[in-house]
Amino acid sequence: MYSSSRLLCFLGLASVAVAQSTKQAGYNPRVGPSNANCTRQSYQLEITSNNTVFQNVDSNANTTYITKLLQTFVSLPTNFSQEYEQPTKQLLSRNYSISGTLCTPLNGQVKNTSHVQYLIHGIGFDSSYWDFAVNDTDEYSYVSAAAAAGYTTFRYDRLGTGLSDHPNDTYNVVQASTDLAIATKLLDMLKQGEIGGQQFDKVIGIGHSYGSVQIQALSATVPHLLDAVLLQGFSTNATGISPFLTSAAYATATEVFPDRFNQSGLPSTYLTTLAPQTQQLNFWFFPYYSDAAFDHNRKTEQPVTQGVLFTFTQTGLIQTATSFTGPVHVVTGVEDWIFCFSNCYSVPANSTYNSIPEYVQELYPVTSNFSVYIPENTGHAVNAHHSAPQVYQEMLAFVSNVFGT
Ligand SMILES: *[C@@H]1O[C@H](CO)[C@@H](O)[C@H](O)[C@H]1NC(C)=O
Ligand SMILES: *[C@@H]1O[C@H](CO)[C@@H](O)[C@H](O)[C@H]1NC(C)=O
Ligand SMILES: *[C@@H]1O[C@H](CO)[C@@H](O)[C@H](O)[C@H]1NC(C)=O
Ligand SMILES: *[C@@H]1O[C@H](CO)[C@@H](O)[C@H](O)[C@H]1NC(C)=O
Ligand SMILES: *[C@@H]1O[C@H](CO)[C@@H](O)[C@H](O)[C@H]1NC(C)=O
Ligand SMILES: *[C@@H]1O[C@H](CO)[C@@H](O)[C@H](O)[C@H]1NC(C)=O
Ligand SMILES: *[C@@H]1O[C@H](CO)[C@@H](O)[C@H](O)[C@H]1NC(C)=O
Ligand SMILES: *[C@@H]1O[C@H](CO)[C@@H](O)[C@H](O)[C@H]1NC(C)=O
Ligand SMILES: *[C@@H]1O[C@H](CO)[C@@H](O)[C@H](O)[C@H]1NC(C)=O
Ligand SMILES: *[C@@H]1O[C@H](CO)[C@@H](O)[C@H](O)[C@H]1NC(C)=O
Ligand SMILES: *[C@@H]1O[C@H](CO)[C@@H](O)[C@H](O)[C@H]1NC(C)=O
Ligand SMILES: *[C@@H]1O[C@H](CO)[C@@H](O)[C@H](O)[C@H]1NC(C)=O
Repeated sequence: MYSSSRLLCFLGLASVAVAQSTKQAGYNPRVGPSNANCTRQSYQLEITSNNTVFQNVDSNANTTYITKLLQTFVSLPTNFSQEYEQPTKQLLSRNYSISGTLCTPLNGQVKNTSHVQYLIHGIGFDSSYWDFAVNDTDEYSYVSAAAAAGYTTFRYDRLGTGLSDHPNDTYNVVQASTDLAIATKLLDMLKQGEIGGQQFDKVIGIGHSYGSVQIQALSATVPHLLDAVLLQGFSTNATGISPFLTSAAYATATEVFPDRFNQSGLPSTYLTTLAPQTQQLNFWFFPYYSDAAFDHNRKTEQPVTQGVLFTFTQTGLIQTATSFTGPVHVVTGVEDWIFCFSNCYSVPANSTYNSIPEYVQELYPVTSNFSVYIPENTGHAVNAHHSAPQVYQEMLAFVSNVFGT
């Protein structure tokens, strides 16, 4: 692993803000696995997005108020919109610092320098989801598995996680529309040669959970920028979403993890799962993971804003990709609580599909090849279960098919 932190200092790119958020987030400083040449950098992005405008909200609200909002959102969506959202969205322009990491296979193993996998993580993680370094080993690292197969990856910390900015407005700024605009910008930069000094002409978008929601939206809104998509921990079945929002018991991150998150640095509406139990319920399927993997996740768990929780399911994000012709692959653990409510085969008796993830093909009327893989003994946090190394081989078979090498 070639850490770029020293290099960045020479280039003057490592800013004070980054140093502070390192302390604040209890961030895992590992840049990448031993078989990849990884460069981490902060990208200053000017982003314009059409955002939901919230009202009667407060980024520093107390626990009672945070819970009251959630209660209304889940049980009375119409009342929620009337009381807390303005009827029309508004354009918002801001600069954000986003930390991204490009990893190329070491020792000339790269199959084609102009091919890249674009990885977007979900809620509760930062980009280290893709380099899930339990006890600092590479066993659960997708970046490592990809590098071993000769493929380059680019991953970044979503706004409000890891080493990226943590804006203080957790409703109007840190929300799904902003996230999608950032995802679009970085994808465009990969294509334009503005990341790693390399113009990537083939890109596979790979997401996990909320990251898959964004990759799916990209395949509909900028289909020409993606050659294929792989949606991990994803489906179009919303049955498990409300159980997720309530049972995770999202609570103020600085109170749940006072040692990791700086009270005066992070508003109260940056949230994490309240307890190991509420984390387990939503992300894990016992006993098919190690205690070390669970501990590692708990120690590096990242916050989500209430604004993201209230917007990631909004209309217009997941949408029919009417002109996306590339292949689509869905990889969802059979016991995924959030996207299958613990059984991906529980389709209606009269269904024409065998599993819940198969319904995703309805979003892709002109895809060249739609396929689904449902790993057994796997919950929502796919990359953290025992099955991960095997799942990666399956994912990389899809990747290899697309890149044609
Ligand atoms: C690692 O990547 C950097 C930046 O692209 C490059 O300058 C360096 O030569 C690479 N090192 C190795 C060992 O491949
Ligand atoms: C929490 O905030 C709400 C709204 O500002 C307020 O009505 C309530 O009294 C506060 N509760 C506590 C315990 O501070
Ligand atoms: C929800 O909105 C309806 C219609 O505006 C209103 O009658 C009702 O009291 C509201 N419910 C709550 C719990 O605020
Ligand atoms: C922003 O969204 C609103 C709908 O809420 C729409 O009326 C408006 O045209 C959009 N603005 C832009 C620039 O897309
Ligand atoms: C973003 O930063 C650039 C360079 O500092 C500045 O010119 C621009 O006005 C900023 N944009 C916004 C929306 O703040
Ligand atoms: C890399 O892939 C591109 C197409 O994406 C192709 O044109 C090029 O020939 C490939 N390069 C090598 C060295 O195989
Ligand atoms: C929030 O951050 C903005 C800059 O992004 C700053 O102008 C503003 O003063 C901050 N507000 C609070 C309450 O800290
Ligand atoms: C906590 O955040 C405040 C405000 O951003 C900052 O002044 C302080 O240095 C931070 N403390 C630590 C221990 O990082
Ligand atoms: C992995 O780390 C955990 C603590 O997180 C420790 O209890 C365990 O012994 C370690 N396992 C190995 C194989 O090093
Ligand atoms: C959606 O998921 C629920 C819970 O697993 C299941 O009962 C239902 O049949 C699914 N609906 C479809 C259309 O697959
Ligand atoms: C399957 O049955 C449900 C009611 O259980 C019905 O709403 C739906 O239209 C049926 N779908 C098909 C394809 O027949
Ligand atoms: C379609 O996808 C499946 C699963 O990824 C793969 O086995 C098959 O070869 C693909 N077919 C074509 C024509 O690419």
